[in-house]
Amino acid sequence: MTVEGNLFAASSFEKVRLPPQQAEPLPHWAYTSAGWYEREVERIFRKGWNYVGHVSQVPKPGDFFTLDVAGIPLIVVRGQDEKVRAFFNSCRHRGSKLLWGEGNCKLIRCPYHAWAYNLTGGLVATPLVDEDMEGIKSELSLHAPRLDIVDGFLFVAFENTLPAASKALGSLQREWAGYEPANLVCTRRKSWDVKANWKLWYENYNDSLHVPFVHPGSLAKQKVKSRQRASHVETDGIYIAHFTVHAGSRGLLEEDQDKAFPRFPKLSGRYTEGTYYPCLLPSTLFGFTVDSAWAFELHPKGPDRTTLVAASFFSKDAVARPDFAEKAEYYYRRVDSIVPEDNEAVERQQEGLCLPVGLSGKFTHMETLCHAFDNWVLDQMVDA
Ligand code: FES
Ligand SMILES: [Fe+2]
Repeated sequence: MTVEGNLFAASSFEKVRLPPQQAEPLPHWAYTSAGWYEREVERIFRKGWNYVGHVSQVPKPGDFFTLDVAGIPLIVVRGQDEKVRAFFNSCRHRGSKLLWGEGNCKLIRCPYHAWAYNLTGGLVATPLVDEDMEGIKSELSLHAPRLDIVDGFLFVAFENTLPAASKALGSLQREWAGYEPANLVCTRRKSWDVKANWKLWYENYNDSLHVPFVHPGSLAKQKVKSRQRASHVETDGIYIAHFTVHAGSRGLLEEDQDKAFPRFPKLSGRYTEGTYYPCLLPSTLFGFTVDSAWAFELHPKGPDRTTLVAASFFSKDAVARPDFAEKAEYYYRRVDSIVPEDNEAVERQQEGLCLPVGLSGKFTHMETLCHAFDNWVLDQMVDA
């Protein structure tokens, strides 16, 4: 089958729609085509809630960070009133980008003609042209996307009609309550440029079959006793999830288990016995283990490019310990050994998917959540 004309036709995906063990993965063009990617930006990233970080990334008034969500430049900043806000990173004069990276500022000053905004987005200075601006400055505040804060996590959306992020998360707030996410501190964010489509990383995170082959000397050394999986249909929110039962902390490599921080004190039930991996749709992969947590943020940059950010989280109590920095290094070591292994795997897959014609693939019983994710993507992308 050639791609032309079939890119979004429901008939092209009938086999992806079959039950998991008879189904095929998404066709190759869903990972390689610019046209497909453009529709993802429009229908997935600009239509729903996007995870953008955690309040602990801006602890003090004036602290800010910038990012782009599928091409839209944003600023997240904490005001003098302690409130965290998001703005489009675009000057109301003639559109220059205002801030880069992260830092602390008293005012947001445009580098082009020096217009300045306060931390609530109000335009407060327009040097040399004040007389032109008389009486109209108040109409030129920074524009803002929607920002919802749920248990310390930050979500933005560009659609006014979407229900609140807390509603979209469904039962997830109950599931992660024992980890006390509002008390977590993001202590490190490390990024990698990955030459692969963002969906390959999402699928890889939910594919337990690759672990012994891609991570033989790292992750696979820690034995998993059992796994539970729940698709987005089985959870009642915008996430799929798996849970692994194992001894120790999944935040550390097997040989570093003696370096663990004390466990989260409020965990109960299965959460004391393993690691919970809720994967937000579209592109945020959490892991909550017994003593720490992480988020792999997938920032798509094109059909075959993704910036992966690995954010590490610990409790405020752990961060206050005198030996925090020394112990945290062991947790970072685990991230830094496993992520490149996964990056290499998905980059090889991306290269292998660059085909002129469709070839049908196969899912196994260990990849049912990849199937669930592919079907969620189709629900957004293909009209019935
Ligand atoms: S574009 Fe920002 S001050 Fe002119
Ligand atoms: Fe992996």
